[in-house]
Amino acid sequence: MARSHSIAIIGAGVSGLGIGWRLAQAGCHVCVFDRGQAGRGASWAAAGMLAANAEAEPGEEALLGLTLASQKMWPGFTRELEQASGQDIGYLESGTLVAATNRDELEQLRFTFEYQRGLGLAVEWLNGVEARRREPYLRSGIPGAIWAPTDHQVDNRKLAEALKAAYLAAGGGLYEGCAVTGLDLTGGRVTGVQTGDKTHKADSVVLAAGSWSRDLPGLPPLALPPVRPVKGQMLSLRMNQADPVVKGVLWAPKIYLVPRADGRLIVGATVEEKGYDPHLTAGGVLALLDAAWRAIPAIEELPIEEMWVGYRPTSRDDAPILGTSGVDGLLVATGHHRNGILLAPITAEAIAREILTGQPLPEATPFTLERFRQALPAAG
Ligand code: GLY
Repeated sequence: MARSHSIAIIGAGVSGLGIGWRLAQAGCHVCVFDRGQAGRGASWAAAGMLAANAEAEPGEEALLGLTLASQKMWPGFTRELEQASGQDIGYLESGTLVAATNRDELEQLRFTFEYQRGLGLAVEWLNGVEARRREPYLRSGIPGAIWAPTDHQVDNRKLAEALKAAYLAAGGGLYEGCAVTGLDLTGGRVTGVQTGDKTHKADSVVLAAGSWSRDLPGLPPLALPPVRPVKGQMLSLRMNQADPVVKGVLWAPKIYLVPRADGRLIVGATVEEKGYDPHLTAGGVLALLDAAWRAIPAIEELPIEEMWVGYRPTSRDDAPILGTSGVDGLLVATGHHRNGILLAPITAEAIAREILTGQPLPEATPFTLERFRQALPAAG
């Protein structure tokens, strides 16, 4: 790899920063551009669950190869990133419990369990007593749960900060508050990005702007990723660290609760097709607190610390869009929907490898933009 190989990355979330870090480590000249602050979009809003097993759903079998491969990368990725950044990223091997709160939910959960076990996933069935042994504050009478011992968590905000630090330490350039206003095109090839009246030349450009990826002015129609924002409202509560009411990642119907080492309890999330609506709503917060309380009644004593809204970058099939775009010089890394944090290591690896070697990562090949073009009916 020539030192002069230059890369422009649009979007400084965990995808853009991770890709930038890998490429800067390889000796490339990298610039990352973000319209806001690095790591403050979907990467900030997320919960940081690394739940390839517990979140596997019927219809998402193709995605499983990618999510499981990325999940396996997390321990090594954490070690390397913490060393490179000098920062702790709050990676906790806490496991994930998925609880039913009544008999109807139990039937549904059994179905999910049989499906996941049929795929060979790391899941175990627990009866109510066993579930409460893991999470003593679960509502009494909980009839059963799935235990996913290898589904852990990372503090996504610390992750974004650490990626930024590691990227900068590797020599990357970062332009925050600097919107890319267009692509520089030469003979149909992307040769850089424009920010206002400035052109930044690059051998390769990576579009990693989350749900904003389809709004880039001048993007050739061929490379337009079919992503949209899917709004999520979330909040955090402050637990007593000496006796946290949730010990590991906990799912219950319509809710997840993620306990951080510092005593925060992340509660999420609504799933709303409301575009970029920025509002926290009474109904959204009520739904979160009600569902959380049905699982863990003791939350009613906890102070609310923060409430926020985020936008999942969601593609037409809920899977990420990774790799070549069909336009020379332009690669895409967006559409991660609910899995942006889990997929951060493999997204960085896949895009960096494609740029450095011209070869796609095998696990990522089903996820190029091409699949949406193939889905279009033939003209005629
Ligand atoms: N991955 C959590 C969420 O999308 O709410």
